[in-house]
Amino acid sequence: MALNPPLPAWRDCRVWIIGASTGIGAATARKLLAAGARVALSARNAQLLAEVASGNPNARIESLDYTDGAQVASAWERVRAAWSGIDLVLIVAGTHAEIRAWELTEANAMALLETNLHGVIKTTAAVLPALLAQGKGAIGIVSSVAGYRGLPKALIYGASKAALINFAETLYLDLHPKGLGVYLINPGFVKTPLTDKNEFKMPHLITAEQAADAIVAGLDAGEFEIDFPKAFTRQLKFLRILPYRWYFALIRRATGL
Ligand SMILES: NC(=O)c1ccc[n+]([C@@H]2O[C@H](COP(=O)([O-])OP(=O)(O)OC[C@H]3O[C@@H](n4cnc5c(N)ncnc54)[C@H](OP(=O)(O)O)[C@@H]3O)[C@@H](O)[C@H]2O)c1
Repeated sequence: MALNPPLPAWRDCRVWIIGASTGIGAATARKLLAAGARVALSARNAQLLAEVASGNPNARIESLDYTDGAQVASAWERVRAAWSGIDLVLIVAGTHAEIRAWELTEANAMALLETNLHGVIKTTAAVLPALLAQGKGAIGIVSSVAGYRGLPKALIYGASKAALINFAETLYLDLHPKGLGVYLINPGFVKTPLTDKNEFKMPHLITAEQAADAIVAGLDAGEFEIDFPKAFTRQLKFLRILPYRWYFALIRRATGL
């Protein structure tokens, strides 16, 4: 049974995607525009957003830095005013930096948390009052399977994503009784500018288009957690329940770190 209330048919759906200029967000925006949805596209790079929109009259460009609450609030006002409401806010934005314990500084940690965690919280805080006033609509948050348990090289990235998983779970508990949908999206490895920097072999790597397909299928099914690819996420979910002694040994063997 679906955990979330159904979204309108895509041709009737008004969606705001934050992090729509490249990678998973851009692929999802293209797919939803092709399905007939109205999609507001946000990220910092307006030129890339225009390429994603590619002249589609259902696309609206709202370039912003989502770590700036004032920019988010004014874009949100414009989008809602233009469309007399909104059905889905998808927060896809994020970044990645490898940090090992001996590389940790206040500066590199705070910079990553600002983008991956604070931006999501600021955006959620900006949109929730209007969603609650509408009494319908949904919010989707892209976290990562890296938030399931600790992993080498993901000292702050993993912590930010674990926090987002908890944040989305708690949002669900509060918002489901009020008629709002909450989606937690946990991708495995997806080929995007974010992972193009990785030098290691990424298991079960998929394309951004495959990620967008999985996200849209999960939204259509009203799932709470949309995790993919299943062949990879099932293994990680199993690792999540192992005792630490076994978990640490398996991760060391798998990563060589
Ligand atoms: N790729 C993977 O394997 C993978 C796996 C698990 C989870 N994820 C998560 O999926 C999400 C998307 O990642 P991706 O792989 O598609 O990476 P990506 O291609 O680098 O996309 C990141 C998006 O976030 C936007 N963004 C970053 N900082 C922003 C800011 N301050 N304000 C507004 N927008 C901002 C970027 O746009 P601008 O630079 O134009 O602002 C871009 O549109 C991230 O949250 C990432 O952690 C990715």
